[in-house]
Amino acid sequence: MIYVRELLAGLLSPFVVGSRPRFARQLQKFAHTELYTHYDIAAVAARQAPDVRAEMERHANDELRHYGIFREWSSRVSPYIGANYGDPADTTGFDRASVRMQAELEAAPSRRLPELGDYMTYIFLSESRAVLQFTVTRWMNPWNRRAWKQIPLLLQDETRHVSYSFGHAWREFLRAPWQRFKGGLRVMGYILRQDVIDLLKLVQVVGSGVMGFVLYYGIVTPYGLVLRLFGAGRRARIRSWTSETQALDESFWKEF
Ligand SMILES: [Fe+2]
Ligand SMILES: [Fe+2]
Repeated sequence: MIYVRELLAGLLSPFVVGSRPRFARQLQKFAHTELYTHYDIAAVAARQAPDVRAEMERHANDELRHYGIFREWSSRVSPYIGANYGDPADTTGFDRASVRMQAELEAAPSRRLPELGDYMTYIFLSESRAVLQFTVTRWMNPWNRRAWKQIPLLLQDETRHVSYSFGHAWREFLRAPWQRFKGGLRVMGYILRQDVIDLLKLVQVVGSGVMGFVLYYGIVTPYGLVLRLFGAGRRARIRSWTSETQALDESFWKEF
């Protein structure tokens, strides 16, 4: 069930990829997700034993590389989308500093899922969702040559992330099955909450568009037309009255 969102996003991707600004914005979103994941994984890696730590640091560095790829891709699709005009080349690392701060907030996976087994389950699910979305996006947009060539290169890394995180999640599960089962429920709850928040954002965007349309064309414009009709009618009445009964016509002066 948690893969439905990615499947839909993949199926709807021609609508996004077909428009340069929309596609550039989508690529910027991907870039930020990659950067956020980079910081989040690095935070968890720092707490692990050397062998696990090395694997996680490799993963974190992959995500940093993916961030660079998506950012460059976005700037080539549409250079003005998401650009920081004060620092277009991002030389001061403004982008990185802000995402890093987001990844340190309490809601971050590294803080909500502190145990390695739970965190690896979360990574496994997130990475496999990304694999699904990228794969469907590629197959839905065969005419976009950049997507057709770039996505398989990204998928090489992503499938490795899926397999190593599954390996760790499984090992931790065998070590303490009941605890990891309960942890799995926590992970599902965490993902569900993220998805509900994303859905609410979408509802807000679509809802404000619909309400704006209704307000303008359903209320403001008809109201303006009614006012105009009343105004036109009133003006016609005033004009007819003044032309028939002029207070200061010639007869008024004849009395003096
Ligand atoms: Fe990635
Ligand atoms: Fe990944």
